[in-house]
Amino acid sequence: LSGIKMNVLITDNVNDRVIKSLKEYGFEVEYKPGISKDELLGIIGKYDIMIVRSRTKVTAEVIDAGKKLKIIARAGVGLDNIDVNHAMNRGIAIVNSPRSATYSAAELTIGLMIGVARRINLYNADIRNGKWSKGAYEGMELRGKTMGIVGFGRIGKAVAEVGKAMGMKINVTDVIDVEEEASAMGAQFMDIRDLLASSDVITIHVSLTKDTYHMINGNTLRLIKDNSIIVNTSRGEVIDSKALLDHLDRLWGVGLDVLEHEPPRDEWEQKITTHPKVLMTPHIGAETREAQDRIVDELLGNLLETVKRVVTK
Ligand code: MLT
Repeated sequence: LSGIKMNVLITDNVNDRVIKSLKEYGFEVEYKPGISKDELLGIIGKYDIMIVRSRTKVTAEVIDAGKKLKIIARAGVGLDNIDVNHAMNRGIAIVNSPRSATYSAAELTIGLMIGVARRINLYNADIRNGKWSKGAYEGMELRGKTMGIVGFGRIGKAVAEVGKAMGMKINVTDVIDVEEEASAMGAQFMDIRDLLASSDVITIHVSLTKDTYHMINGNTLRLIKDNSIIVNTSRGEVIDSKALLDHLDRLWGVGLDVLEHEPPRDEWEQKITTHPKVLMTPHIGAETREAQDRIVDELLGNLLETVKRVVTK
């Protein structure tokens, strides 16, 4: 890469190693985590590469202001915060790190599931308030229950593995036919409606697209059995949170790592985050030492490959 002069703008929090390595490769790096939309629009024109996580919204407006932009790199999996079509039409390459956080996201999913089943949020809050409330909240055992996995990609499969080890029956649904892969794992592939109606724990592992937006809504929530658990560590917009609020009382509980607006904005979202049946974390699926470390290597590897491709084009 010697002799390549490229300016890189990083607009979200990333591991220091990303900045250090890029500088060692000779890139000019500007680190501006938390930059506002207006400031971004004002300066993006100077950069060849931008690196983001999920906070920065790389809209068509930002892409058009990036006159020199050649690569948009996403440190993470989901590309829903990037107008990918617009970028591709402008010939801008997109790079991400889809593998690094698989097990971190899967482990958090299982953690939320168990947390909701055993009301760990409520017991922990009591302990913090000086209350030894043994037996105050009924718990639910997961062994022998049915886990319904919506989206059988890398994370969905990792969750299935753990679910099986916990003695759960696994149902799977996906927009593509994953019947063979599912049965190889001893899971049953089915239509989403059948999965929602037959599972005790429903866990969502889809990316956000126009087809998955509000996929869990008033109509689909009605299919879910009373006393079921829903876990969402994918994207908040997959669940219509207003509709979810209407069903909370009849569900066992909900484990969420994501929300339609992060942090919560609307009144109904505040109602969800403070509801006793809800155990919520602030989008930390990828926030482990190991995942963040792997993301650096995966992202840099993919980015440097793409830089080579772009300069030899
Ligand atoms: C991702 O898509 O990589 C995750 O949601 C994690 C993140 O954005 O921080």
